[in-house]
Amino acid sequence: MTKSRSAAWRLPLTLTLPLALPLVTCVVLVSGATLGQEQTPASIPPIAQRTVADLHRPTVTPDRIILTWTDNPTTSQAVTWRTSTEITRGLAEIALAESGPQGQRNNARQLIAVTQPLETDLNAAHFHTVTFRDLTPAAKYAYRVGDGVNWSEWFLFTTASDQAEPLSFIYFGDAQNDVRSQWSRVIRSAWTDAPKAKFMIHAGDLINSAESDSEWGEWFDAGGWMNAMIPSIPIPGNHEQAKLEDGSRRLSHHWRPQFALPENGPEGLEETCFTLVCQNVRIVGLDSNRNHEEQAVWLDRLLSENTAEWVVCTFHHPIFSTGKDRDNAELRKLWKPVLDRHRVDLVLQGHDHTYGRTGLDSPTAEQNLATGVNTAELYSGTVYVVSVSGPKMYNLQRHPFMARQAEDTQLYQIIHVDSDKLHFEAFTATGELYDAFTLRKQPGQKNSLTDEIPDTPERLRPPVTEAAPGRSTGGLSRSR
Ligand SMILES: [Fe+2]
Repeated sequence: MTKSRSAAWRLPLTLTLPLALPLVTCVVLVSGATLGQEQTPASIPPIAQRTVADLHRPTVTPDRIILTWTDNPTTSQAVTWRTSTEITRGLAEIALAESGPQGQRNNARQLIAVTQPLETDLNAAHFHTVTFRDLTPAAKYAYRVGDGVNWSEWFLFTTASDQAEPLSFIYFGDAQNDVRSQWSRVIRSAWTDAPKAKFMIHAGDLINSAESDSEWGEWFDAGGWMNAMIPSIPIPGNHEQAKLEDGSRRLSHHWRPQFALPENGPEGLEETCFTLVCQNVRIVGLDSNRNHEEQAVWLDRLLSENTAEWVVCTFHHPIFSTGKDRDNAELRKLWKPVLDRHRVDLVLQGHDHTYGRTGLDSPTAEQNLATGVNTAELYSGTVYVVSVSGPKMYNLQRHPFMARQAEDTQLYQIIHVDSDKLHFEAFTATGELYDAFTLRKQPGQKNSLTDEIPDTPERLRPPVTEAAPGRSTGGLSRSR
């Protein structure tokens, strides 16, 4: 028999529950009292909504677990996780992965974490980092993190090979907004297409408010256990910069406790400007928010000594902006000559909330972008990509030297490197191939490029007329 709404609420609550109990407890107990009895939807009492602080509160159980590298990917692996401040000593255990359940547990070695406190707008937490060292190249390991009592599950990862074996990696432009609601599907689609990717590059603006713990919580929730199995290489965007009262900006206090990254860049840019080599690919992360000149000098010296076959640079603000009325002329002036001189293969960027990918030739610093390529100054050899993975969308700046562009499209990119061949694919959030090309090494010359753009129309907004100016930004503010 159906229990009427009025009957459910006639339960003598005040007699059975202490007055001090919060409403949420009452609701849970009332629901429990009627469990098993059929109810019409109208008879269900209002459900108490968890607060943002509740949703992102750290506990003794490890969360926000993420693999990154501080050192050589063939022999080391860093892992960072979060707990409540009750956990003052973090532990990690690691062993060669085994098929049976006992082996890795019995053979595991235990390491004590470096623990850092972090006060956020919502809570106080401890972030723990362990760097596993002396690992065997191209070996599958199992690890777990915790405190000796409260443990994560065992996760698997595979160290990089010390040979130039084929590898794939994933690249995301800005996630930034509605990360739980609208970005999670993008990282999950990328994972389904490349579950054995060696790493994931995030080209800045992972979140919108630099020190919002709920936004960071959404970012970690979206990646979930994938972050604990595939190393991430994030670089900071302008939205990872907290604004100070005097108008200046500094790196988010979340950044360094939660991402253990190399500290091999210029002094003062630790974990925001760095490099590492994975198999035959050198990754260079630059901090486009500050110290451009200093990083140009560092990059020039670094690439002069590079021996890796492929060089991929990633930074947030694009050399060639694809956002309408946005430009980063200083970066083009200071960094592009260095990228050109060293024939960097691929530059992966974000910031402009559109998609744009060049061919091999693009204008030099001095040229008016609108005129396209000046053959007198012709050289690039570098492919520049701007992409966006989150839902915030801008108006596109068209450039004649862009091979493929898009508006209003969330994308992820998978890059495959195999010996002297690099294959790039951009997919929409729903997994449709949107752009592709292949680079091939040519000794002593710039790369060759073969476009493999699918035969589908470019995803562009209709031209804006005078009568209908200013397309929307998806209801989101357009802050730089
Ligand atoms: Fe940005």
